[in-house]
Amino acid sequence: MAEPLRVALIGTGSIARRHLLAFQEHPDRLQLAAVCDVQREAAEQAAAPFGEEVGIFEDVDALLSAGGFAAVDICTPHFLHAAQTIAAAEAGMHVLVEKPMACSVDECRAMVEAADEADVLLLVGQSLRYLPGHAGVRKAIRSGRLGRVWSARSDDWFPALPPKPWMRDAKLSGGGVLHMGATHRIDLLRHFFGDIGSVRARSWTDNPELVNGGEDRIVATLEFENGAVAHVTACWAGYTTPHFFQYVVLGDSGALFTELVRGNDWRESMVLQHYGPAFVSNGSGYEPVEPVQDGLAGQDAWINVLVHFADCAQDGAEPISSGADNVGTMKAVYGCYESARTGRDVALTDL
Ligand SMILES: NC(=O)c1ccc[n+]([C@@H]2O[C@H](COP(=O)([O-])OP(=O)(O)OC[C@H]3O[C@@H](n4cnc5c(N)ncnc54)[C@H](O)[C@@H]3O)[C@@H](O)[C@H]2O)c1
Repeated sequence: MAEPLRVALIGTGSIARRHLLAFQEHPDRLQLAAVCDVQREAAEQAAAPFGEEVGIFEDVDALLSAGGFAAVDICTPHFLHAAQTIAAAEAGMHVLVEKPMACSVDECRAMVEAADEADVLLLVGQSLRYLPGHAGVRKAIRSGRLGRVWSARSDDWFPALPPKPWMRDAKLSGGGVLHMGATHRIDLLRHFFGDIGSVRARSWTDNPELVNGGEDRIVATLEFENGAVAHVTACWAGYTTPHFFQYVVLGDSGALFTELVRGNDWRESMVLQHYGPAFVSNGSGYEPVEPVQDGLAGQDAWINVLVHFADCAQDGAEPISSGADNVGTMKAVYGCYESARTGRDVALTDL
């Protein structure tokens, strides 16, 4: 067994707390070497349970100059993802970057190029791919249990705006509910069906707390290269709804339904991991879809992402959510924005 992967965590806010559980639960695979946050106190708090040898930094350049680790885990606001990824790759570090990958398709391509040039791994934390339930759905679809898939629907309604000010400012976050939330669902549909050929979308913004153009509602139609068509809605302003996430997939010999994820608020349903059990019907009764554990360490999506990061960096495992693959997801996201702006269909080959 290889030594654990020595990782520097960059950004120690909300999601980093879930990443840190992986270091606690899998010390044989992951070792926290350093933490970096512009808020020193936050970095110190994050590092405290891991002992005094964990380096504390307030600046990414200083962190990368100090070295002493093989990889970084980037959990910062979206506008920082590209520059921090490129700097880490150029310093020879493997990179795990949280979703959404970055704030434009060009930024995403530059990140992939930097990782390729440095011959390091670039993994994007598309956590939904790392749930055994969704892996089971993918297997059911890909093994032909639904026959030829021709249609799908995915809805994701949050009861309120996201909590952090930077998330409400599209200059810092890169967009609104599509970029921050529906990226997950679009990526999951790509994981199920393959690449998207074209998109059309409409978006709306009512809430004055969203600045610089972030949207609080989006309706999108995605046409996949395999012929499937998916309808995606996402909303940040459903003040009377708890977090509602559900999808349906229709094929010519079966339909797959997921149960509603029942969280009373969106944080609770995040803990429920965005997954309600799935069932397949061929018109007479419902058969459960069995979760698939292959290559996944356990039940927690973020812990699974981190352990998989070590598996890829050290043991050459095939990435479940590589940066190169994620460019396709981000093309769909930015294609939807282009379509909402122009009122036209957008072919993703043009982006
Ligand atoms: N996979 C998921 O389901 C999921 C869920 C929530 C958030 N996320 C993603 O995680 C990322 C972080 O979100 P969050 O909710 O933890 O945000 P957050 O605001 O809670 O944390 C961000 C942290 O980054 C720090 N930071 C800001 N600028 C920095 C810099 N220049 N250098 C180092 N640190 C800096 C901040 O001080 C803060 O501690 C985002 O990409 C977000 O979309 C993913």
